Amino acid sequence: MTHFLDIHKTNPSDLRQIIDTARDIKDARHGRPKSALDDDQPLAGHMVALIFEKPSTRTRVSFDVGVRQMGGQTMVLSGADMQLGHGETIADTARVLSRYVDLIMIRTFDESVLTEMAEYADVPVINGLTDRTHPCQIMADVMTYEEHRGPIAGKKVVWTGDGNNVCASFLHAAAQFKFDLTFAGPSQLDPEGEFVKLARDAGCKISIERDADKAVQGADLVVADTWVSMHDAQSARERRHNMLRPYQVNAALMAQAEPDALFMHCLPAHREEEVTSEVMDGPQSVIFDEAENRLHAQKAIMKFCLGK
Ligand code: CP
Ligand code: NVA
Repeated sequence: MTHFLDIHKTNPSDLRQIIDTARDIKDARHGRPKSALDDDQPLAGHMVALIFEKPSTRTRVSFDVGVRQMGGQTMVLSGADMQLGHGETIADTARVLSRYVDLIMIRTFDESVLTEMAEYADVPVINGLTDRTHPCQIMADVMTYEEHRGPIAGKKVVWTGDGNNVCASFLHAAAQFKFDLTFAGPSQLDPEGEFVKLARDAGCKISIERDADKAVQGADLVVADTWVSMHDAQSARERRHNMLRPYQVNAALMAQAEPDALFMHCLPAHREEEVTSEVMDGPQSVIFDEAENRLHAQKAIMKFCLGK
């Protein structure tokens, strides 16, 4: 069973193949109306379950559109409407869904829901974000960096703010695609030590910096994300904002990175909080390319999982 659970759980040659396929898919669609089907219909006759236990705009729409463009059909399920969390085990849910659908994409809270689903499903399972990681996003981000600037290997990525789920998948990608990563944020919100170690063991230079200005020196890519993730308690909002304010990505901070540095944000963004509109809408920002590339990257991931 070929699941796509995390970037460090898929081998580097397969990851590279996914990026190459995503690139081909994007090129093949170039200039065609957005509603057009792909000539090659690899998902014809396939049903894909898209399960959301948290809100989503990009993941939901890009997976849904991607499946349809490849000739398949989707069923979008909200966690609240399912028996999940109402007493039925994840294992039983996985076994039942496997009798109906050919692929499961799930966005959930605790990572154990994803891993248990994958353990008991007879069909591939794709991670559409958990409290801990967000691998589809970072596949799109690697693709986006490379289409603008060439190979990401050896480049310096600076993560600003909270060492959260998206940051974790960047660390996994550092290990697999061989780039360096500097985390710029407060010690209370450091990324998981296990993931820092994983990237360091793979030979990447992983630095932890408390000073944002120092961190961005020599950066080829500066990344921001929300200061309060979906799994964070709203009651922690003010405390997190106070801690994270020094790490806002603004024009003054970007000016200290390499002159051709890119800016990324997985979105949704909170303008004038973690990033200013000046940077989001400025010439170094590739945020909407990242969003578009979710579609192409995930189509490649689904093809990989289904062996198409
Ligand atoms: N970046 C991302 O995953 O966006 P959604 O939460 O809108 O899916
Ligand atoms: N870190 C954010 C990412 C949203 C796509 C969250 O988990 O809410």
